[in-house]
Amino acid sequence: MTTLDKSFVTNGVWKEDIFKGKVVFVTGGAGTICRVQVEAMVLLGADAVIVGRNVDKTIKAAKEIEELRPGAKVLGVGNVDVRDVQSIAKAVQESVEKLGRIDFVIAGAAGNFLSDFNHLSSNAFKSVVSIDLLGSFNTIKACFDQLRKNKGAIIFISATLHYYGVPFQSHVGAAKAGVDALSNALAVELGPLGIRVNVIAPGAIDGTEGFSRLAPPGTTPMHEKVPVQRLGQTKDIAEATVYLFSPAASYVTGTIQVVDGGLWHVGNFMGSLYPSVVKQQNEDPEVKL
Ligand code: HXC
Repeated sequence: MTTLDKSFVTNGVWKEDIFKGKVVFVTGGAGTICRVQVEAMVLLGADAVIVGRNVDKTIKAAKEIEELRPGAKVLGVGNVDVRDVQSIAKAVQESVEKLGRIDFVIAGAAGNFLSDFNHLSSNAFKSVVSIDLLGSFNTIKACFDQLRKNKGAIIFISATLHYYGVPFQSHVGAAKAGVDALSNALAVELGPLGIRVNVIAPGAIDGTEGFSRLAPPGTTPMHEKVPVQRLGQTKDIAEATVYLFSPAASYVTGTIQVVDGGLWHVGNFMGSLYPSVVKQQNEDPEVKL
C-alpha cells in the first residue's frame, strides 16, 4: 500500500503546520484512500480520529499514522458501524474528550461489490445504500455540534459511476448519487453557519480495495484509457483533500471535485465486455430477491 512520508511536506506544495490545532474525524480512515487523506492532514499539522468496524485494523492504522509527525495525536476507534448513528456519536464523544474538538470530517466509509441486477438481493442493495448514504448522513449528524461550534468543513467521498450507467453497480451508483445530493443540500443549509461541504469523486485509484473489486479481468489496461495516461494514486486524493480543507478553498462549497485523470469523460470501464457480460448474467432463470 502506498503511504505518505515527510517528503509530502518537504517536497510538496503545501505549507507545514497549515492544519495545526485542528482535528479531522474520518470514517473508513484505515482503508486505502481515506488513510492517505488522514496521513496528509497529520503531516500538515492536524490531529486525527479514524473510526472503523475492525478494531485491530483501525487501532494499528492510527498508531502508524501517528508516527508520521512527532507530537501528532491519532486516535483509532474500532467497533463503529456508520449504519448506527449512536455508535458514531459515542466515537465523537470520545474524540472530543481526548482531542478537544473536531474541525473537519471525511465521510469515507463505503461498501462495494460487483453484482448484476438479477443476482443483487434487496438486502444487498440496502446494505450498500446504508453504508454509503445513510452512513454519510449519520457521520455528519454525529459531528454536527462540533462542526457548528468550530465552523468546520466536510468532505464526502463519492464516485463517478452514477454520471452514466455502469453495469453491476446499480447499488453503488444509487448510493453515491444520494451522497452527492446530500452534499449539495448540506452546502446550502450549513453555509450560513460557516460550514463548507464538498465531495471528492475518485476515479481509478491504483492499489485500492475499490479498484481491485471493480477492474474486470481481461480488459484493456486501465491506464491506457485514462486521458492523463496513468492510474490515480492515493496521493492524488490526499492533495485534493488538503486543498478543500485549506483556507485556499474558503469560498468553495457545494462542489464535486472529480479526481480521475479525466476518465469518466471517456465512458465506463466495461468497454468491450458490454453487452455480452450483461446478457449472460440475466439469462439465469432464478431471480434473487
Ligand atoms: C452479490 C453480495 C455480494 C456479492 C455481499 N452480498 N457480497 N451480493 N454479490 N459479491 C450481499 C449478501 O449476500 C447479503 O445479501 C448482503 O449483500 C449483505 O451482506 P453482508 O455480508 O451481510 O453485509 P455486511 O457485513 O454488512 O457487509 C457489507 C458489504 C461488504 C458491503 C456487503 O462487502 C463490506 O463490508 N464491504 C466493506 C468493504 C468494502 O466494500 N470496501 C470497498 C469500498 S470501495 P443477502 O440477500 O444474501 O442477505 C468503494 C468504491 C466505490 O466503495 C466506488 C468505485 C468507483
